[in-house]
Amino acid sequence: MMPLKISPYLSEDKIKARVKEMAKQINEDYKGEELLAVCVLKGSFIFYSDLTRQLDGNILCEFLAVSSYSGMTSSGEVKISLDLAKPIEGKNILLIEDIVDTGLTMNFLKTLIEARKPKSIKTAVLLHKPEAAKIKTELDYVGFTIANDFVVGYGLDYQGYYRNLPYIGQIQSLN
Ligand code: IMP
Ligand code: MG
Repeated sequence: MMPLKISPYLSEDKIKARVKEMAKQINEDYKGEELLAVCVLKGSFIFYSDLTRQLDGNILCEFLAVSSYSGMTSSGEVKISLDLAKPIEGKNILLIEDIVDTGLTMNFLKTLIEARKPKSIKTAVLLHKPEAAKIKTELDYVGFTIANDFVVGYGLDYQGYYRNLPYIGQIQSLN
């Protein structure tokens, strides 16, 4: 892919500080109770790693993968491409997502998890685009509420690229 120009959107320092605050809040809410942290691949792999490393208590790590996007518009169709490796019945689940855009993915995942009878389910998302919502989703921990902009970096991609950027940016030529 041709290298595109990326303009800064959220700096590494800003993300780091906010993730720390989110972890503090989660630690207070669960008070050391065992938590099964679910990483929603691929987008949340960096946020997940940074957040879970600041959580107290017994933390179990599990991964699932969904796909719903091609390019910059949501197909509206959510598919599980990797399911959780173990049953989650009776566990406190924290679903960790990079971004809630239309809300379709988060909604699909919450329904899927709830059907497996966990003890509790909460959601932690780094970015929320309320203007893009197609369905209302209750979120428990939100890093940043952003405008309806397409962003990349810190796990988020454009056509598979830019996930490794340590900050969050916007592709200039697309705006
Ligand atoms: P949904 O529209 O809320 O279902 O979000 C689906 C998925 O689209 C998210 O989990 C992201 O992986 C991806 N996505 C949504 N907005 C953006 C963005 O601004 N940049 C990169 N990926 C995004
Ligand atoms: Mg995602």
